[in-house]
Amino acid sequence: MANDPRAAAHPIPPFPAGFLWGVSTSAHQIEGAADAREPSVWDAFTAEPGRVKDGSTAAVACDHYHRHTEDVALLAGLGVDAYRFSVSWPRVNSPGGLDFYDRLVDELLAAGVRPVPTLFHWDLPVDLDWLERDTASRFAEYSSTVVGRLGDRVQKWITLNEPAEHTLLGHALGTHAPGKQLLFDALPVAHHQLLAHGLAVQALRAAGAGDIGIANSHGPTWPASQEPADLEAAAFYDVLLNRLFAEPLLLGEYPEGLGDLMPGDVAADLKVISEPLDWYGINYYAPTRVGAPQGTEIEFGGITMPAELPFSVQEIEGVPVTDFGWPVVPEGLTELLTTFRDRYGDRLPPVVITENGCSYEGLDDQARIAYLDGHLRALHRALEAGVDVRGYFVWSLLDNFEWAEGYARRFGLVHVDFATQERTPKASYAWLRDVLGAQRTRTRG
Ligand code: BGC
Repeated sequence: MANDPRAAAHPIPPFPAGFLWGVSTSAHQIEGAADAREPSVWDAFTAEPGRVKDGSTAAVACDHYHRHTEDVALLAGLGVDAYRFSVSWPRVNSPGGLDFYDRLVDELLAAGVRPVPTLFHWDLPVDLDWLERDTASRFAEYSSTVVGRLGDRVQKWITLNEPAEHTLLGHALGTHAPGKQLLFDALPVAHHQLLAHGLAVQALRAAGAGDIGIANSHGPTWPASQEPADLEAAAFYDVLLNRLFAEPLLLGEYPEGLGDLMPGDVAADLKVISEPLDWYGINYYAPTRVGAPQGTEIEFGGITMPAELPFSVQEIEGVPVTDFGWPVVPEGLTELLTTFRDRYGDRLPPVVITENGCSYEGLDDQARIAYLDGHLRALHRALEAGVDVRGYFVWSLLDNFEWAEGYARRFGLVHVDFATQERTPKASYAWLRDVLGAQRTRTRG
């Protein structure tokens, strides 16, 4: 904000010319128009009583399907270079479903905003199941259909969003759709999504696409203490959140013998999974403090974790928290990026932060401004430390359907009144617009 004393005193340092600035959303969380598509696992899940905390569904959500023109105008007003949205597989399966994305892409290009579609952001068609290997081939076919229609205008593609969360929350703990509580028997879900990713990369390349990435969720794991039991539990959690989804892609191998637990011809699959990427997307929200199991069920960040898990997630003390209770630790982003660079060296392609954001109530969202300000500075420190970061996307453009939390968590730069669908830009929208304007002036000059 031009009149924000913090910004005037210490402007965010300039990012390199060509750095890609954007915001992110996902289909199920904003589109609505559930009657104009086939059902997904999320429709089935939200129909079950008690699954979504406020009992809501995404049948209407932000009604973006009908209000996309207004939303593209909000993107143009914000001055972003790029918009990350997701394509709904159940909508593409419905007659005329791709027409919506075709129009959206045209509108974005006309507004000077680059479309960056994600092909899967958790809304699996209800008759499919990631426990089945065949789902990976079906995903590749669907990806071919989408790139066949949009590939003449879309350059930058994302295959999957956060296969880690979709495996952990959806299939191991059951707090997200499809609501399975398989604990470690959910590992094939990770493998099949990674295989789907690799097959989709091949399908996109075959169609001439040349700028392909994934959006993986990662964060530093902080051991609760230096006691061996805490260190061991934290290392194991780090494998699950970070290494299990990074190493098959970047190194062509599973960490810590986990490949032995995966189904199928794992060695052959890993060759597909490790198809070279043009860039690596990271969704970063917060670090996690992890200690030895405590033998009891734990409630953390809206998730219930059963006692049998071999770790316990613990509070990080002495830092602010968002309205969701998530710790605000910008330096965790610098740590994460330098750790990845040190771990994977030149096997790590250029990085794009594909999500970063926070949930806070209110239109004068100074806490969101402080969060984003802190994380942009932390990102810049990673650049100064030599990490090759090429872009940054805020989660999210709009308040939206926050999965099992329903509409109770507001991550948007733009407030949505879910009764009237009125959009109202928050203070953070104006702040980001001014930050982007200043970045352009300074990288030009
Ligand atoms: C997901 C988004 C979600 C956000 C905030 C990410 O894990 O990709 O869909 O809304 O975090 O919870």
